[in-house]
Amino acid sequence: MSTLAIQNLHKSFMLNNQENKVLDGISLTLADNEFVSIVGMSGCGKSTLLSIAAGLEDFDAGDVTVDGVPIDGAGMDRGVVFQAYTLLPWLTALENIEFALKAAGKKGKECREIALEHLDLVNLSAFAGAYPTELSGGMKQRVAIARALSYRPKILLMDEPFGALDAMTRRQMQELLTQVWEAHRLTVMFVTHDVEEAVYLSDRIVVMGAGYIKETIDVPLQRPRFDGMSDLPEFLDIQRHVLGMIRHNAAAHA
Ligand SMILES: Nc1ncnc2c1ncn2[C@@H]1O[C@H](COP(=O)(O)OP(=O)(O)OP(=O)(O)O)[C@@H](O)[C@H]1O
Ligand SMILES: [Mg+2]
Repeated sequence: MSTLAIQNLHKSFMLNNQENKVLDGISLTLADNEFVSIVGMSGCGKSTLLSIAAGLEDFDAGDVTVDGVPIDGAGMDRGVVFQAYTLLPWLTALENIEFALKAAGKKGKECREIALEHLDLVNLSAFAGAYPTELSGGMKQRVAIARALSYRPKILLMDEPFGALDAMTRRQMQELLTQVWEAHRLTVMFVTHDVEEAVYLSDRIVVMGAGYIKETIDVPLQRPRFDGMSDLPEFLDIQRHVLGMIRHNAAAHA
């Protein structure tokens, strides 16, 4: 649907009166409908990069454009899903999605229809009337994903969205996300610590060092992805290579 281009991005935070360079000239283009994961050691700047792309954090120098147009803060062209559940606790699952749709300018009846359709997409139709406290972690995250997809953003930005989930639920969510992505196609930036997850989901994996891009790795595995794929030698080869790159970085950093 859309291209996200980041060019020569620089970002520093002040720490104890000292400039802490967090992003030091990052250039990265996510092509139309491309699924790109960002991996790298803790603190290397992944979340900062994603927050800048979301328009939730400003930057010191560089360009961030969507289809050639510079971003101006957050916008409905970009959907965001974070690790922490960000549902509004006083609204039901359905109302949480409707709320986002209203903010996107959709009208009452249409909001309900689209919200129900997206709850169905994440297999939560039966929980439309449930409040966040009545949902499990995985269910809340499914609502958050349904919400982010409901207003049809061109770009989906996800920061460790499955980080808080147990292994089984995480696997189910990965499958759900690939199914949704393979059916609807949109441009995705996905931050994760889980290299297997990155290989399973992505077209391309970006390995970051502290503030810079160390390497970009193509994932030429067949789609649709299938259960058991992560046991294939070609899958394991890519996984090993990415892990090696991250470890190499960590060693150099230490
Ligand atoms: N609001 C902030 N103020 C000051 N420093 C910050 C802020 N946000 C991030 N940083 C610093 O920027 C660096 C990168 O942080 P960031 O959260 O982007 O890392 P990350 O790669 O997402 O790490 P993790 O894998 O642990 O989530 C860290 O050194 C962090 O201390
Ligand atoms: Mg982070």
